[in-house]
Amino acid sequence: MPRPGDLPMVMAVTAGLGLLIALAGVWLMGRLRTRSIGVAMAVVVVVAVAATLAGVVAIINKMIIEGPTKDFVLSVVAVGGLVGLGVAFVLARRVVQESRRLVAAVRDLPFVAPTGLPAELQTIANTLEEAYAREQALEGARRELVAWVSHDLRTPLAGMRAMAEALEDGVVTDPETVTRYHGQIKLEVERLSAMVDDLFELSRIHAGALRLSRSRIGLADLVADTLAGAEPLARAKGVMLTAEAAAAVPVEADAGALGRALRNLVVNAIRHTPSDRPVVLRAAVEQGMACLSVTDCCGGIPEEDLPRVFEVAFRGEAARTPSADGGAGLGLAIAQGIVEAHDGEIGVVNDGPGCRFEIRLPLGESK
Ligand SMILES: Nc1ncnc2c1ncn2[C@@H]1O[C@H](COP(=O)(O)OP(=O)(O)OP(=O)(O)O)[C@@H](O)[C@H]1O
Ligand SMILES: [Mg+2]
Repeated sequence: MPRPGDLPMVMAVTAGLGLLIALAGVWLMGRLRTRSIGVAMAVVVVVAVAATLAGVVAIINKMIIEGPTKDFVLSVVAVGGLVGLGVAFVLARRVVQESRRLVAAVRDLPFVAPTGLPAELQTIANTLEEAYAREQALEGARRELVAWVSHDLRTPLAGMRAMAEALEDGVVTDPETVTRYHGQIKLEVERLSAMVDDLFELSRIHAGALRLSRSRIGLADLVADTLAGAEPLARAKGVMLTAEAAAAVPVEADAGALGRALRNLVVNAIRHTPSDRPVVLRAAVEQGMACLSVTDCCGGIPEEDLPRVFEVAFRGEAARTPSADGGAGLGLAIAQGIVEAHDGEIGVVNDGPGCRFEIRLPLGESK
């Protein structure tokens, strides 16, 4: 029969032994952490049974229970342990089967996340599916870019080769055509080198290797420089290029890189605006952000194209066949990469007779 004072004693001994067993269990799980989840579950059950057994042994030692009662209690603990082990086994089998199902789905491309998995495995499966879809989209864009770029390189190269051969073989001799061919070859070479530069820049942006050397600059200066640089192009096309800049719009930026992004927008605007129509460049502070915008008279971009214009190699349906002044579809992707590297955003909306491209940047603190 238990005596007063036995209970605290038995509890203390059980707790002490239980703690030792728990520590041993944690240590064992650490050693086995790369093994199957089933092994970990077995350890949990064994620890629970061992801790219970420790309590029972403590009771027996104090001779609180003896004889047949002792056997009964030990049997109950043993059966409880076996039941626990059985359930752990079933559970472990399920987890192992479900993870095998997930592995099989990953191997069997295209990857579609299986459903009905335990919560954590389902999260892994869904995340994998998203990553796979993203990778597929990128891969598709890359393949498209290579196809278009090689096409764009091959077409002018074929033209240049024909002209060079004609000059070499003396097929064209009249001075006017010879001069025209030379001019044309030089123009194509310039266009191709610009394209190769763009591709190089884009691959640096994608590799995360764009190094910005930021300093405090004013957007009004950047706008003035860009305007001066694009002036000859606008004049040649007969487009009225003007600028409006608020006095001080300070930002922390790499003037060269940001200038390149803005120039890409301006060149596009001039290219898509008919002669005698305006293109306006603006720098202003809006809602606490520094805002650069280029508004043109392109007649609007089709709604379904608006979200796609920043994609690499996107050139709109009408521009699939390269024309003399057609680009490679890299300018806006580069501009976006540069703006995002500055923690900014770039976007486009249709506005009145054309569209408006906008760059928003965090405002630099005014001195
Ligand atoms: N201002 C604009 N007005 C109308 N459409 C535009 C304008 N800017 C861009 N687009 C559309 O978005 C496409 C992608 O522009 P992006 O600057 O990336 O390439 P690109 O101008 O065709 O070639 P690149 O800039 O490499 O010389 C263009 O081909 C055009 O269809
Ligand atoms: Mg462009």
